[in-house]
Amino acid sequence: MCGIIGCVGGEKALDVLSSGLHALEYRGYDSAGVSFFNESSEIITVKATGKIVNLDEKLGKMSESEKRSSCGIGHTRWATHGEPTERNAHPHGNERVRIVHNGIIENYRALAENLTAKGYTFTSETDTETAALTIDYCYKTNGGDAVKAISEARALFDGSYAMGIIFADRPGEIYSIRKDNPLIIGIGEGKNFIASDITAILPYTKDYIRLEENEIAILTPDLVKVIDENGNTCDKKIEKALWDVKSAQRGGYDHFMLKEIHEEPEVIEKTLAPRIGANGLPAFSDENFDIKRLAKARRIIITACGTAMHAGFMAKYFIEKYARIPVNVEIASEMRYADMIIDENDAVIVISQSGETADTLAALRLAKEKGAFVTSIVNVVGSTIARESNATIYTWAGPEIAVASTKAYVVQSALMVLLSLGLALERNTMDEQKVRVLTEKLRYALPKDVSKILAMQDEIFDAVGYLSDKTDMFCLGRGIDYYAMIEASLKIKEVSYIHSEAYAAGELKHGTISLIEKGTPVIVLSTDESVRQKMVGNIREVMSRGAYVISITTPDAQIDAVSERVINLPSESGEFLPIAAATVLQLMAYRAAIIKGCDVDCPRNLAKSVTVE
Ligand code: G6P
Repeated sequence: MCGIIGCVGGEKALDVLSSGLHALEYRGYDSAGVSFFNESSEIITVKATGKIVNLDEKLGKMSESEKRSSCGIGHTRWATHGEPTERNAHPHGNERVRIVHNGIIENYRALAENLTAKGYTFTSETDTETAALTIDYCYKTNGGDAVKAISEARALFDGSYAMGIIFADRPGEIYSIRKDNPLIIGIGEGKNFIASDITAILPYTKDYIRLEENEIAILTPDLVKVIDENGNTCDKKIEKALWDVKSAQRGGYDHFMLKEIHEEPEVIEKTLAPRIGANGLPAFSDENFDIKRLAKARRIIITACGTAMHAGFMAKYFIEKYARIPVNVEIASEMRYADMIIDENDAVIVISQSGETADTLAALRLAKEKGAFVTSIVNVVGSTIARESNATIYTWAGPEIAVASTKAYVVQSALMVLLSLGLALERNTMDEQKVRVLTEKLRYALPKDVSKILAMQDEIFDAVGYLSDKTDMFCLGRGIDYYAMIEASLKIKEVSYIHSEAYAAGELKHGTISLIEKGTPVIVLSTDESVRQKMVGNIREVMSRGAYVISITTPDAQIDAVSERVINLPSESGEFLPIAAATVLQLMAYRAAIIKGCDVDCPRNLAKSVTVE
């Protein structure tokens, strides 16, 4: 989704904007632009559709002196209001003011009507332009008082926003505000920054402050001043980013997605180890998190979006199995409008990699309003979801840059297993020794199996060749393998654009088997030996109708006999194998995307962090 970068100080603000925009590419976008003060203190605006290299190319045609700048703002736009054209790309405004904006100004039509009545005209179809011109109007009517103007304009905005603002008669100053959209202020030496995302400024500084709602930030090269809604200067805490530049770079891999899949064994260990006591039992000492409170819940509701929701299915399986608490998994965008029955006897768990997904955040707020205790599983420290939850357990996956989530899903799933073991202990649904054995298996055998799978990469890639000219396929599994296949199917669709249906293997014959014809690819996951016979039967059903079956399984002669291709899984991790199998399926999705020539790290139309409804 949209990204913001701004820099004030030094002579090469434009370089910072360009590197920042590249760092933000992963969020998903379809156009980009910058506005900067040149040496004559004029605002220059350059925009381009498509990839940032198109913008780079335009900027590359300017001379070094034309590009010399000490202040500017930049943006990657993921179209919501208006097509992804150059006209609609940010920054927006007029000769007096320019803004970059993430979020949506819901009442933009009413604002536009007011502005039109005052003689303003519009050049784009965006809500952002009305916000820019509203700020301009308030600036004029407040005699050029920037803080007053922004605060007056902000009061007129309905919706969500993070904004970077520059005024033509204030070169060397950047203003910023936010509501329901993330924005941080980076503190450098003789340079300061605004960014929607820490990864954009990591090469320049690790020090940052968070802008809270209703605060206005004023940045000059040597000063960052934050003013609250009553006009008082705030004393802000400087925080240190935990991620380093390297963790947000490709590090020798062709793509972030592949790099992130290869990080899985390490991040599983990083996430689990701090939550396992010296006695080998789960021991959560995360801030505010009280497992006893969760253990008392009459029911757990897990809510999330996309891949994070699929980790919720894994969680459901293990919490119900080990701790015997009923679990509902709810799509966050549905839950917020569903008039759900939730009360203080329920516990809600929200799962989110970014911690900023608008629908998940809205579901969280709704659950809190209804009196439920909300625990979040989040990867980004200090993100809005983390801050608004009653308790947070962080996944330590490091920055996930590829739009399609891989390592975050694996650690979310592993962490939820550990949580379910902790709950089992609290509720006495499993004896201590059994919990200890499973905890050890989760901590040591799971990353080991994932490492073994990564060593099988060539074999896995080879099996994917068959998909190169296919447009439709199926992913089948039973029980927890079905849950794993829901995520696998999404991954394949997201990155390779092959249409894929995940099906509970036994359900296929109740309709959709009509779509199986000669050569239809069917990927089968079978780790659960208790339903192996049933699975073999289901494979026969599709094979006899011409399907090309690729089975991912623990070694089994019967599966060999009914499959065209078999990928044998290592099996040390036992019942946690479906989590390790995600690695096989992610590698398959990755390879299918590469064979099809897709932009694997930034699939079309997708955004990493969806901060609008
Ligand atoms: C977007 C991304 C998905 C992600 C989902 C939830 O749709 O494209 O990859 O799973 O948002 O994101 P979150 O940051 O809340 O886990």
